[in-house]
Amino acid sequence: MIKLPGLIDIHVHFRTPGQTYKEDFFTGTSAALAGGYTTVIDMPNNKVPITSLKTLEEKIKIAKKQAVCDFGFYYGSLGENLDTFTKIQKKVFGLKIYLNQTTGGYIVDEKKFETICRKWPKKLPILLHAEDDVIGQMIEIAGRAGQRIHICHISSEKELKTIINAKLKGYKVTCGVTCHHLFLNENNVKKLGPYGLMKPSIKPEKDVNFLWRHLNDIDIVESDHAPHTIDEKNSDKPPFGVPGLETTLPLLLTAVNENKLSLARLIELCYANPKRIFKVPTDKNTYVEVDENKEYIVENKNLQTKCGWSPFAGWKVRGKVKKVIIRGEKVYESGEVLVKPGFGKYVAPAILRSE
Ligand code: DOR
Ligand code: ZN
Repeated sequence: MIKLPGLIDIHVHFRTPGQTYKEDFFTGTSAALAGGYTTVIDMPNNKVPITSLKTLEEKIKIAKKQAVCDFGFYYGSLGENLDTFTKIQKKVFGLKIYLNQTTGGYIVDEKKFETICRKWPKKLPILLHAEDDVIGQMIEIAGRAGQRIHICHISSEKELKTIINAKLKGYKVTCGVTCHHLFLNENNVKKLGPYGLMKPSIKPEKDVNFLWRHLNDIDIVESDHAPHTIDEKNSDKPPFGVPGLETTLPLLLTAVNENKLSLARLIELCYANPKRIFKVPTDKNTYVEVDENKEYIVENKNLQTKCGWSPFAGWKVRGKVKKVIIRGEKVYESGEVLVKPGFGKYVAPAILRSE
């Protein structure tokens, strides 16, 4: 048995309010506990996007009633709500901006992005959904504005090379990778059909190998837990996104077992770096017990996420979450959530709370 700090997932989509049939804060945070996470940060691309104090406060209120692990939020912008930034800054971990097409379609052009960068409080990062060439352009724009950015879910050799070069030149940029971009390649997608559709798309093996070889240049593993129902995935127009909270740690522990990364590096990617980069408050009596030698098959029927499927169903993994303790209290053991909805605490960045 090994003990890990409670992991921090800086990138989840819990869909509530607006699309609670896909996920809510109880099922989403239950999936988090099952996956060894004790804090999650939720994205703003809801049915009605989180771009006002009112929508943000409504979401916080609902989450407070439902969550079984700790949770925080990002704010969103389509370039029209700049005057709200100062009002909401103490309530969120950052701002999420979409520069390429994905679920919700909340795209911002580069002119608006530049204005947003100038207005956004500099203490907090801006997270970007940017792909391919757009990454380099946005790093330049953010750099001119002196804005720190985090590039979400990098997926290709080209993207990571752009970021490595920018870091060498001193740009304030960090990046994250998901397990679907690390463990799946184009060959898997053929079999997965709509269940292998997400943005950014899964890349060829050559790109995946590059990401693994340069894992030291990546700051964070984020799940991009993006649940959609089986019916939606089987429809004529399947939406983009896959769930990931319950498979990220087991996949990474399997990789540790295969000497593809060290356990110390796993802890950096899933705890220490998220904590440092996003200033996530933590607690010394919050931890996870993992049976690192337990092998099991990922099965849809055992998942806590409301969507009830995983692109990794049928995969054999090694490393199972046995017990999760939050602030000294046992909250999860052997597949069972032991606390009531509302146990989880709303969190905001450690630097801002004390101001
Ligand atoms: O595939 C994706 N799904 N990529 C995103 O960026 C958004 C996410 C979602 O919200 O479904
Ligand atoms: Zn996302």
